[in-house]
Amino acid sequence: MNTAVSAPPVQADGLTRDFGSVRAVSELTFRVDRGEIVGLLGPNGAGKTTTLRMLTGSLIPTAGSVRLCGFDVLREGPQARARLGFLPEQMPLYGEMTVRDFLGFVAGIKDPSRRIGRERIAPLRERLDLGAVWDRPTRVLSRGFRQRVGLAQALLGDPDLLILDEPTAGLDPNQIREFRSTVRDLGREHAILLSTHILPEALEVCDRVMILNQGRLVAVDRPDRLAGTASPEGKLIGRVRSPAPPQLEDPGARVLDETGGLWRIEGDWDQRESDAALRALLDGGAEVLEWRRGTAGLEEVFRRLTLGEGGS
Ligand SMILES: Nc1ncnc2c1ncn2[C@@H]1O[C@H](COP(=O)(O)OP(=O)(O)OP(=O)(O)O)[C@@H](O)[C@H]1O
Ligand SMILES: [Mg+2]
Repeated sequence: MNTAVSAPPVQADGLTRDFGSVRAVSELTFRVDRGEIVGLLGPNGAGKTTTLRMLTGSLIPTAGSVRLCGFDVLREGPQARARLGFLPEQMPLYGEMTVRDFLGFVAGIKDPSRRIGRERIAPLRERLDLGAVWDRPTRVLSRGFRQRVGLAQALLGDPDLLILDEPTAGLDPNQIREFRSTVRDLGREHAILLSTHILPEALEVCDRVMILNQGRLVAVDRPDRLAGTASPEGKLIGRVRSPAPPQLEDPGARVLDETGGLWRIEGDWDQRESDAALRALLDGGAEVLEWRRGTAGLEEVFRRLTLGEGGS
């Protein structure tokens, strides 16, 4: 029991999964700590769902292990699952059951001794704003309400950890906004690991982002650090054509070879410094193709990391 209190909600070591000859997930080692909202970000087929299914114990790893709050998912399944609330990519709802009955039904499965009773279910109705659909059959619910019912069932056992697989997929912009704010709220009481392929979502919601590409973790960091947005205005990003590497006075500026006589320039410059650098480049005979303030920094990082090795 003591381990459960101090151990991190998720500790994955060398997690690997093959499907036939395809390695869908390769040697992932990471943890999710208490108080954290962590995003698993990656393009289609990157291995997000495969990873989450191994964490929840619904898919057996080819190699590696997962501990949830100190409990091994395979060897101590019931204890591990008791710490977990999971919202899968496709939430199975039971057509004719009303929301009220469905949540009662799930509570019964999670806890046959019926400890999870009305005192747990009723506050979820308020918290997730389910009053309007409480007595409706789940099959008639809109996607937004289905996701909220999905969250409610995930929260029934008051889990230490919430795992959400693409929770905002298919929601309209208003529903997305509400859902994200709910997730941030829940993050105060539960560690959360969510997958998404939407960059602004990861930026807005997560304390830490893990970027997955072709089954491998290619970056793990805070969104702002990944984006390299140390200066509030954002970095100055230039693209220049010139036979030789462009020379810049600022030793902190980065010059990256994009091959074919193209160079990418990045500098932490204010407007005056940026103007001076641009003038120096033009005076030096460089052809400046692009000169702008970087805004979507994370998108840039994401694009480079996930397309850099031949795409997926
Ligand atoms: N049951 C399975 N059998 C065979 N291959 C699978 C299976 N599940 C996943 N894969 C393969 O594993 C890889 C990772 O798939 P996964 O569903 O984990 O990706 P994802 O990141 O969740 O993608 P998406 O954004 O589309 O949900 C893909 O190449 C996929 O085709
Ligand atoms: Mg998926």
